[in-house]
Amino acid sequence: MTVYLNGEFLPRDQAKVSVMDRGFLFGDGVYEVIPVYSRKPFRLAQHLARLDKTLAGVRLDNPHSAAEWTALIGRVIEQAPSPEQQVYLQVTRGVDSRRNHAFPAKVTPTVLIMSEALVPPAPAQCAGGVAAVSAVDNRWLRCDLKVTSLLANCLLRQLAVDAGCVETVLLRDGFLSEGAASNIFVVKDGLLLAPQQNHLMLPGITYDVVLELAAGNGLRYQVRDIREAELRAADELWLSSSTREVLAIVELDGQAVGDGRPGPLFRRMYACYQAFKSEVMHGG
Ligand code: PDD
Repeated sequence: MTVYLNGEFLPRDQAKVSVMDRGFLFGDGVYEVIPVYSRKPFRLAQHLARLDKTLAGVRLDNPHSAAEWTALIGRVIEQAPSPEQQVYLQVTRGVDSRRNHAFPAKVTPTVLIMSEALVPPAPAQCAGGVAAVSAVDNRWLRCDLKVTSLLANCLLRQLAVDAGCVETVLLRDGFLSEGAASNIFVVKDGLLLAPQQNHLMLPGITYDVVLELAAGNGLRYQVRDIREAELRAADELWLSSSTREVLAIVELDGQAVGDGRPGPLFRRMYACYQAFKSEVMHGG
């Protein structure tokens, strides 16, 4: 397993970061997760654009141009064993000489790129859907930034795992924000509803793909705030993320969503998503 760390390609077990790295001490870093199909990174330009925004949002200069990122990511992909991968990249503010909350005057960011096999959701999950729990969204107010300080997300996701579920659906002030590590969609009476992007949710790359596919395939949709009551009365619930693609949530807090099976709109979207992916893989 080869990783890229600060200018070098090296085996993962030899890639080491200082204990004085602000990523380690403060979670002072940003990241991206990019799915790779047949060794082709999916929506790379969009992931790099979001990275740029996150870096600006935490006052870090982008250490690489888009062309440099593309080349580095390409080399990591080449060297990984599986054609289906998830590339993880991380930029931290770098290594300081002492622990101090304020930014050091001069510091070189730490840059890591690594890749793992992409394990798509099991066929039974794609066909039968998954269960989720809900919880109060107690994260900070910059959830639009893809930062590595993910303790709140981890604690929230663990609530799902503890309940034998796959995701935690988050509610803030009575409105749906997103999942602990995914975006959430609601279907009611044949209409697809997506929460509008603001500082309370991550602008998901897969979320954009879902809405583009909805528009391109004649699915009616609206982007707007979604109340908790609408979430609870949904005919269908979906989650989306780079590693899970689109999945139907068929149970929320132990209650069936709709008739407890993936609904007709989900099945259409799932088919569109798979078709779109295979177009991209085959150079379309
Ligand atoms: N997470 N919202 C949150 C909080 C997320 O962590 C993610 C993805 C998403 C979906 O974004 P995208 O479609 O761009 O993957 C939404 C990644 C996969 C992770 O942290 O591993």
